[in-house]
Amino acid sequence: MTDPAAPRPIGVFDSGVGGLTVARALRERLPAESILYLGDTARVPYGNRGADTIRRYALNAAHTLMEQDIKALVIACNTATAHGLDALTQAFPTLPIIGVVEPVSHQAVARTQTRHLAIIGTRATITSGCYTRALDALAGDLHLTSIPCPLLVPLAEEGWLDGPVAREVARTYLAPLADTDVDTLILGCTHYPLLRPTIASVLDSIMPRHVALLDCARATAHATADALALHGLLAPASAESSDRQKIRFLVTDEPRGFMGTAVRFFGGALSPPEHIDIIPRTSLPSP
Ligand code: DGL
Repeated sequence: MTDPAAPRPIGVFDSGVGGLTVARALRERLPAESILYLGDTARVPYGNRGADTIRRYALNAAHTLMEQDIKALVIACNTATAHGLDALTQAFPTLPIIGVVEPVSHQAVARTQTRHLAIIGTRATITSGCYTRALDALAGDLHLTSIPCPLLVPLAEEGWLDGPVAREVARTYLAPLADTDVDTLILGCTHYPLLRPTIASVLDSIMPRHVALLDCARATAHATADALALHGLLAPASAESSDRQKIRFLVTDEPRGFMGTAVRFFGGALSPPEHIDIIPRTSLPSP
């Protein structure tokens, strides 16, 4: 339970460990903030599930965090953003909610010279068309190539980040980009930044030009800072020294086993996770 005297945290949720790449960027960008991270490890992965299931899971996770008096919510998962953002915005109209898709899309549009972008993500993220909609809304002159890469998630979780298996899987998925004029690739999944060197090296070998790889974490942290400032919710800078590193981790599966993988995604030591039961909500707002 939350301490009533403590500053209200930013709620961050993901299907499991992947969102820790975003939590890490949030901690770097907003050191004065408290963060409450929820990993829905009992139901991970979301990326191969149907749209309604993912939306329900996202609502359940958000309700669970709302019980902990969060002041803003970061959906640190591409798949949950793709299928849950609209439902969450409808369910919690006064809560600042930040997804991972829009911030990196802004960055990609600003970055591309050739106007040909590629997006990789889970099957559910790619089939949702969320990146296509976000990018088309920002610029009308883009050519987009979207590729689902589901096997990259288990590879990242297993720590198979380089070597022949990871390389061959990445090469197979990225083959449609060979010899195109793509100059910017969005890593549209929380797990893919761990595979960045392998993806970069495969692209170097099949592409005529350097391809910039953009991941969601930093762009989302900046968007969160902007949203907090806009709503007058930023923690005072003085909290930085007293409250530094204040980040709690909640998981829906048993905590054992979380730490080993989590350290890799968070990029350093983290406090031990606590178990929490998700609050189920059966009624969904209409899509
Ligand atoms: N966190 C998910 C994403 O960013 C990947 C893991 C999953 O499939 O649940 O899409």
